[in-house]
Amino acid sequence: MNFNRKDLLGIESLTKEEILFILETAKSFREVLDRPIKKVPTLRGKTVVNLFFESSTRTRMSFELAEKRLSADILNFSASTSSSTKGETLLDTARNILAMKVDCFVLRHSTPGTPHLLAKKLPVSIINAGDGAHEHPTQALLDLYTIREKKGKIEGLKIAIVGDIAHSRVARSNIWGMCKLGAKVRVCGPPTLIPPLVEKMGVEVFYSLEDALTGVDIVMMLRIQKERQNKGFLPSNSEYIDFFSLNEEKLNLAQPDVLVMHPGPVNRGIELPARIADGEKSIILDQVTNGVAVRMAVLYLLLAKR
Ligand code: CP
Repeated sequence: MNFNRKDLLGIESLTKEEILFILETAKSFREVLDRPIKKVPTLRGKTVVNLFFESSTRTRMSFELAEKRLSADILNFSASTSSSTKGETLLDTARNILAMKVDCFVLRHSTPGTPHLLAKKLPVSIINAGDGAHEHPTQALLDLYTIREKKGKIEGLKIAIVGDIAHSRVARSNIWGMCKLGAKVRVCGPPTLIPPLVEKMGVEVFYSLEDALTGVDIVMMLRIQKERQNKGFLPSNSEYIDFFSLNEEKLNLAQPDVLVMHPGPVNRGIELPARIADGEKSIILDQVTNGVAVRMAVLYLLLAKR
């Protein structure tokens, strides 16, 4: 297949074939990560700018490592120490960095649509590393990769995504991706944290965690996104924990070989207890490892032939 895109802005706009092609490409980069020398010359001479206007641990370090593993040159931008604190616009910032002759921006921003704006205005590749509550495409790709790696398939699997669906770009990107690849996706949370009309994305909505978990192959727990909530959506943390926190009793309703996922950061004791986050059914750290390979694949497909 010929992957002929300038940018990666979201999963909604990708075809099933494109998603599968990225996941297959990531397999060969995953193998590189197990070598004693974890580096290939694929992007030598290319320069990638990590433009992060929001906090990040996993995505930022994973992109930086992926770029280094591909031998690209890297510029790291931190909003708090940049001239954006003096009133410079996003577009001016990006245009000034572009004038230094770079090839790609990896953008995380709290405003949905900002990667799309840069993609329209700039002639270089833009990768969305999370835009507000809209999309987080590389997170969904690494989640899909990890499910395929562990279960051998995605089609026909029953997957429950639990928590703050309304404010989660991870949920949105995963719903698009999982549905395109033929999974049966359930979303579950308090009514205040389920977005209206989410069923139109092809998912089934549950307000009871016990019902949502019954018979599932995968459960993905999500953090309450307090930074994106502008009012109280929950009476209290303890009430949320009573109804929507994962425990062994609830997990026993799922398939015996159920796997537990979380995009991170985990709030231990709220969405799930430490003993499940660190337990034998958890594949949370496999998601993180695979994230580097998936991001190497995305960078390679967008940049190698340009
Ligand atoms: N999963 C994820 O996006 O984590 P960070 O916010 O740490 O990048």
